[in-house]
Amino acid sequence: KKGSYDHFMQKEIHEQPHSLTTTMRGRLKDSGVLLGGLKEYLKTIRRSRRVVFIGCGTSYNAALAARPFVEELTGIPVAMEVASDLLDRQGPIYREDTAVFVSQSGETADTLFALDYALENGALCVGITNTVGSTLSRKTHCGVHINAGCEIGVASTKAYTSQIVAMAMLALAVGSDQISTQARRNVIISGLSSLPSKASEVLKLDAEMKELASSLIDSESLLVFGRGYNYATALEGALKVKEVALMHSEGMLAGEMKHGPLALVDENLPIIVIATRDACFSKQQSVIQQLLSRKGRLIVMCSEGDTSAVCPSGSCRVIKVPEVADCLQPVINIIPLQLLAYHLTVLRGFDVDQPRNLAKSVTTQ
Ligand code: UD1
Ligand code: F6R
Repeated sequence: KKGSYDHFMQKEIHEQPHSLTTTMRGRLKDSGVLLGGLKEYLKTIRRSRRVVFIGCGTSYNAALAARPFVEELTGIPVAMEVASDLLDRQGPIYREDTAVFVSQSGETADTLFALDYALENGALCVGITNTVGSTLSRKTHCGVHINAGCEIGVASTKAYTSQIVAMAMLALAVGSDQISTQARRNVIISGLSSLPSKASEVLKLDAEMKELASSLIDSESLLVFGRGYNYATALEGALKVKEVALMHSEGMLAGEMKHGPLALVDENLPIIVIATRDACFSKQQSVIQQLLSRKGRLIVMCSEGDTSAVCPSGSCRVIKVPEVADCLQPVINIIPLQLLAYHLTVLRGFDVDQPRNLAKSVTTQ
């Protein structure tokens, strides 16, 4: 079933042009998006006081990537909840809330307990899942199947990018009654349709990521700095590295750099800075300058053509990625980091598809 690939994780990373296509199939129209599962509920969602995203691990990170464009296109405040933490705090969930549960398997215990809790509190419960017939799919009021195809590798890869795309379509559908954002919606819709070809393009970095991995093989730690649309990319890239390559890695908000993490910077610690084009670009340029002035060992992810804009001194390593609509850039930016985590794992001699101590579906609390 792995075909020409050595591991399922590798296959699933390379499958993304296809899985992104199937996520959008039949749902993307010139006039807008059509999500059969949400049609009847759009009015209720528009009237809600908050959207609360709930998930664990990679699924939580996907929701975090979606947060900025959901806020932008719907105007509804978005709250983020790690499922276990919502339960630990017994945090407030109201009848006026739309609670969106994100889960690849649809069977994660913490997420399902949080769903029971939100149902008891009277919220509208929406599921975003890859698994038709899963408990999440059955117990939510409505939802969207991401249709990414079966994911076997324990590390979630293609489900992450499809979850973000499903939530982009959700945001477009909920916001579709707003005339003021029509032009922006059109840009995002055409960005969505270009994603499969951009994903194919960025996958060509495979050999380069293998080479980068070989230069990091003996590092003890890897930091990833992102902000704005790509804060989630930093968290998710670091999660992939720690869970499969068994290397310590932290994703961080670049805006928090001066409030502690800067103390870690020296000439040995590798740091990936995500600095693709969006409204935060100039802020990331200055983060890079500050890291360089402390002799940081930088790997900068930037848009094609921006090498000298991000690193005028020429002393950083760069990962050049194709540009898409800014809010969809996380879908493209995570792919080289997935490849990096994959190659690091193989080169370090660890089990790619079955990382130590982990299970594909965490069905106990
Ligand atoms: C549905 C069909 C699809 C068909 C298409 C044609 C299914 C599973 N999907 O897709 O095969 O090609 O119509 O129009 O038969 N739901 C939840 N919670 C979730 C996810 C989904 O309640 O977490 C519900 C939805 O609200 C919907 C149903 O499950 O009622 C199917 O969802 P989805 O597959 O996303 O709907 P369509 O894309 O319309
Ligand atoms: C990371 C990973 C886990 C899952 C988490 C939630 O690669 O696979 O962090 O994302 O256990 O699982 P689902 O999405 O099935 O609820």
